Formats: sequence, structure tokens, C-alpha cells
Amino acid sequence: MDNRPIGLFDSGVGGLTVVKQVMKVLPHEETIYFGDTARVPYGAKTKETVTKFSEQIIRFLLTKDVKAIIIACNTASSNSYDELIRVFPDIPIFEVITAGVESCISATKNKRVGIIGTYATVRSAAYERGIKQRVPDMRVFTKACPLFVPLAEEGWTDNDIARLTAETYLDELLKNNVDTIVLGCTHYPLLKRCISGVVGESVTLVDPAKATAMKMKKFLEQNDMLNGGEEEKHTFYVSDHTPSFDFLCERLLKKKYTAEKTDIEKY
Ligand code: DGL
Repeated sequence: MDNRPIGLFDSGVGGLTVVKQVMKVLPHEETIYFGDTARVPYGAKTKETVTKFSEQIIRFLLTKDVKAIIIACNTASSNSYDELIRVFPDIPIFEVITAGVESCISATKNKRVGIIGTYATVRSAAYERGIKQRVPDMRVFTKACPLFVPLAEEGWTDNDIARLTAETYLDELLKNNVDTIVLGCTHYPLLKRCISGVVGESVTLVDPAKATAMKMKKFLEQNDMLNGGEEEKHTFYVSDHTPSFDFLCERLLKKKYTAEKTDIEKY
């Protein structure tokens, strides 16, 4: 038994889609979330910058005595994971790409899949590598959809602007006859209804969040690290107060939380 919290982080509200799945799959676990709202978006930044930001956040989470960490961000998972596990060998760190790769392979029937994510995630080619290693003849098509991130941060997840943006980005993937699209950015599930309306019901949308939460569950079970308490406790930190963080948090998690601001540059 280990009653310490699980730490999660992302550039902003996106990682809350992973918190939501952790709450479902591991209802007795305490969580501590950090949203880097002062420095969002990560997707247009270099690997070095994303890695530096992630290291600072992990140092902050370690001051909260977390027992394990989920990088609830595809950009940081795909660009920085190897470096993060090297710098922090004593804390179990989970990324979201492997779960996305595995879920995508199980979902596709025609072996033609699309990966959508930030510029940095697409540039890393982490999804293609993971998929091709397991299924070499899979056809993988990628598309960076950077504008989905500010739309999600603004709460514009299902209006005309979101729909036109989705149509413009996804047209090319659909022409390639993909039957599965991985939402390879944790902000994108916030636009799932809109994206689904654009791609149609015949295309399966894969959100790696649930499978990531399941991996964490398995790890905690195998290592006798589950929380033995019953009380639900979830704490949220941001690097800056934004007009939308608390509002979107409540909309997604169906409960009111107030995020506390912390000066991440200190870490
Ligand atoms: N939500 C993040 C991801 O999964 C980062 C988006 C961004 O800040 O550009 O990639």
C-alpha cells in the first residue's frame, strides 16, 4: 500500500483528459496535476525547451511527494521521455505514446491509420516508430493540428470555428482512407465530438488516456502501491491563472476545483 499521490502534467488543460481517466480507473488514488498555462503551447517549441520545462515540473511534483508520474502530454512524452527517465531514475514515469500505439493497432482493420498531434509530436515520429516496430506493413499518415490547442484552451470545442479548423486539417487524412485516427495530443479529446462529426462514424478515434491509466493501475497493483484510503483528493496547480482553466476543469471533471498558482521557474 502506498497512499502518496500520482503526479500528472501537461502544458495546460489537455492533461485533464488523462486525469479524468485516472479518476475512473483508479478512483481511490490521490492526484496532483500541474498545467503549465504560462508557457502553453509546447507543440511549437524545441525538444530542448520541452525537456527543460518537463524537468522543472517533475522537480516541482517531487516536492509534493508523488509516488509515480504520468506525462499527460504527447509532446513531452514523444520528445523528452528518454531524457526524463535518465534524469529522474528513482521515480516511475509513464508516457502516453505506447498506450496510443497499442490502442491504434488494436483498432484498425485496414492497417491505414492517421496520427494527429502537435508539430513537435509529429516531428518526433514517435508514433510511426512505435507502430512500425510492431506492425511493419502498417500505413501511417500524420498531420499536425496546432490550432486545436488554443481552441481547447479557449473552450471553443464544438462551434463553427472548431468545425472548419477540423475540416481543413483532416481532409488530407481522410483522402488517405484511414479507418483510425489517434488523438495524439491530450487537448484533442476535448474536441472529440467535433472531430468525430467531421471524420464520420466509420473512423475510430483513439484516445490514449484510458489505456495509459490502465498501465498505471497494473503497475501499482503489481508493486503493491495502490492507495489504501477511500477519500477522493485531487489538487491542481498552474504556472499562471488563465480565464479558462478552472472553468474547463469543472466542465470536464464535473466538479469545482480551484487551481493554485506556482512559480515553476523556481524549480
Ligand atoms: N497537450 C499536449 C500534448 O499532448 C501539448 C499541447 C501543446 O501545448 O502544444 O501534446
